[in-house]
Amino acid sequence: MADYTHKISAAGRINIIGEHIDYCGGKVFPAALSLKNTVYARRNGTDKINIAWTDLPDKVTLEIDKLDSYRNEKYAKYQAGCAYLWQKAGHKVVGCDLLYDCTVPFGSGLSSSAAIEVSTLAALAVMAEEEMDKKEISILAQSAEREYAGVNCGIMDQYASANGKKDYAILLDCKKIEHELVPFSLGEYALVIINCNKPHNLVESKYNERRAETEEALARLQTVLPVSCLAEVSPKDFAKYGHLLSGKVYDRAKHVVEECDRVNQAVDAMKKGDIVRLGALLNASHKSLRELYEVTGKELDALAAAAQKHPACVGSRMTGAGFGGCTVSIVKKEAVEDFKEQVSKEYLKEIGYPCRVYEAEIADGIIVETL
Ligand code: GLA
Repeated sequence: MADYTHKISAAGRINIIGEHIDYCGGKVFPAALSLKNTVYARRNGTDKINIAWTDLPDKVTLEIDKLDSYRNEKYAKYQAGCAYLWQKAGHKVVGCDLLYDCTVPFGSGLSSSAAIEVSTLAALAVMAEEEMDKKEISILAQSAEREYAGVNCGIMDQYASANGKKDYAILLDCKKIEHELVPFSLGEYALVIINCNKPHNLVESKYNERRAETEEALARLQTVLPVSCLAEVSPKDFAKYGHLLSGKVYDRAKHVVEECDRVNQAVDAMKKGDIVRLGALLNASHKSLRELYEVTGKELDALAAAAQKHPACVGSRMTGAGFGGCTVSIVKKEAVEDFKEQVSKEYLKEIGYPCRVYEAEIADGIIVETL
């Protein structure tokens, strides 16, 4: 990449467990992946940011004093949103050329947009020769997703993309926005990521609808409990006061309360090397996302079911927002090839088009290299 001075990347992520609870103040358990977005960057001495992509013919120029006027850009809206929020937070934006190269598959539920946002903010910080505060970058990236992509998302994806560490999972407390790194060790098991390949439409509206339902549940429970978020409602309190909620709102809240509990158990299981128990928790999470939270759909259900059926698999669940995207499975290392083959065959038979297996490792979040 001739003439670029820096190479800055941020990771896609997998969520091991803790789904749809980040925006309820819960603890989640994601990890950064070796699938990532890379930005090649150099200062250009102008008052413009020039954006290009390795796999698109488009080129977009953003005027630094008009960063708020690019909300309708097809591809560059994420970059514009990040630059605008970076500027609004009081940071310097300098003229630069940014070339994007993304290996996180789009629409896969592995957070390509978070990888793009976080790497953009990191690149802007490097170009301006500013200190990089990964927590601030995560929060600004989340705001860019909310304001420019219209998804009222939680903090998990952007935080994992920025703060991930090779060979560690991140136990992220979404209320405090603080994390603990947990060695990612599965012993004789491996993690397998498979995309169900369902084009995921309408995710934004369904996602925002789930958020509204959890907010309704919280408001109702706050009339009897001194809680600031749904994650603070213990299973015991829910058993006592859950009757105040009805229908879907009850189901959504039940998922949140139980999923929060599963995260604690899963972290404990991983720390103790009890991978069979970890797997069982993944299965229970998928069931809850299917029956109570209703974010799976027949494709993800077929994929998880095919995986769970395989004798070498101890657990499998959808990961990310759902309605399409990927599953994550824990499989005996020696049987991974057979697992991939059997699950792919079964999925094709059931759904009529193929799924796709990804090769990825647990990797660092932001990486900055000088060229
Ligand atoms: C998307 C959002 C995250 C999180 C997950 C579901 O990935 O961006 O904030 O809510 O869905 O766990």
